[in-house]
Amino acid sequence: MTEPTRILLIVTGGIAAYKSLDLVRRLRERGASVRSILTAGGSEMVTPLALAALSGEKVYQDLFSLTDESEMGHIRLARDADLVVVAPATADFLAKMATGLADDLATTVLLATTAPVLVAPAMNVQMWAHPATQRNVKRLRGDGIRFIDPGSGDLACGEEGPGRLAEPVDIIGAIETLLAQPKPLHNIRALVTSGPTIEPIDPVRYFGNRSSGKQGHAIAGALARRGAEVTLVTGPSVQPPPPVACLTQVETAEEMLAACREALPADIAVCVAAVADWRVKAVHKQKLSRRNGQPPRYEMEENPDILAQLSQTANDRPRLVVGFAAETEDVVDRARAKLERKQCDWIVANDVSDDSNVFGGDSNTVHLITSQATETWPRLSKEEVADRLAERIADALVEPTARP
Ligand code: PMT
Repeated sequence: MTEPTRILLIVTGGIAAYKSLDLVRRLRERGASVRSILTAGGSEMVTPLALAALSGEKVYQDLFSLTDESEMGHIRLARDADLVVVAPATADFLAKMATGLADDLATTVLLATTAPVLVAPAMNVQMWAHPATQRNVKRLRGDGIRFIDPGSGDLACGEEGPGRLAEPVDIIGAIETLLAQPKPLHNIRALVTSGPTIEPIDPVRYFGNRSSGKQGHAIAGALARRGAEVTLVTGPSVQPPPPVACLTQVETAEEMLAACREALPADIAVCVAAVADWRVKAVHKQKLSRRNGQPPRYEMEENPDILAQLSQTANDRPRLVVGFAAETEDVVDRARAKLERKQCDWIVANDVSDDSNVFGGDSNTVHLITSQATETWPRLSKEEVADRLAERIADALVEPTARP
């Protein structure tokens, strides 16, 4: 493996689990780091100590472990991986995955990960051939899960036929092929803003908004997966950050602008953050008190417009500047007007009116607006919106004429 690769290995309860030890050894020989999750069934077959000794990493087993959750957390475990490998995957585990169950650490992490997933099934020949198992495999393939199919031969149960876990060396081959997928944004620097900004009123109070950072973080992750060197500048967010080259956490619009300037030069800028348009002119040094009985009045002043500044900067203008527009009426027309006023290249318009559940929600319906056209995408998860947008960005940068 040419680049440092972080593999998250899930070992489930099949007799072939012993081969996972060899797999870990070989992966480490090739320079990968391996974290492991052992399911309850898996721990009947191999010990956590053996996996920990070979991987040189702690082995995770329990979704509700206070220590593990405070040290690592299942979401970070899911996100800090370039690839998740399930080897061996039992029939039961495939059924859980296909149904989207999340009743233990392994299944929960699989729902939370944004990394590609490679599954190496192993089971009795009849169990593998059973229509239920094949239905689950088909469904998972449809969900984008990659498989290295079981080999044929003598099985531990005494029967013969397909069901043997693929050999570790073949699983390694599948991993290498998967990770060698083209990275169209290699050598491209991307700046992504995400989350809200918060503007202080006094030492304890602030004006903020409902942005969770989900959409911006997903876009940063999608660009990074395509090889971009991503700087993610984010306002306060509980959303775990994706693996990016540089993460800068800020609070106010002015801090966000400074961090964005610092990140230049960049080839791409995607401004997803919900930046506060105004801030309190004179922030109170002491906590405002109720004692005088009158509700406070705030004099506001305008914040800098980060998207407009990035679009209009004479030096270091990114080759492609993409804004987002959060609108509650005349969504496309208002977003197009913003594109023209701020002079970005593309703007992604989303309807954020009351019942849309876009702020903080998991899905989004967007319109991609360029100077020439408007495309309306169906309702998609924020990850899917991110992937589509990253693909479009890659197309535009690889083929400059595609740029609006
Ligand atoms: O974070 P989530 O919960 O996942 O929600 C995602 C989202 C709704 C925040 C996101 O999809 C979105 O719409 N982001 C833009 C929110 C916004 O501030 O929209 P706007 O129409 O007010 O601003 C237009 C553009 O100008 C945006 O790119 C914004 O980043 C930028 N802007 C705005 C004001 C300002 N002072 N500086 C800016 O750069």
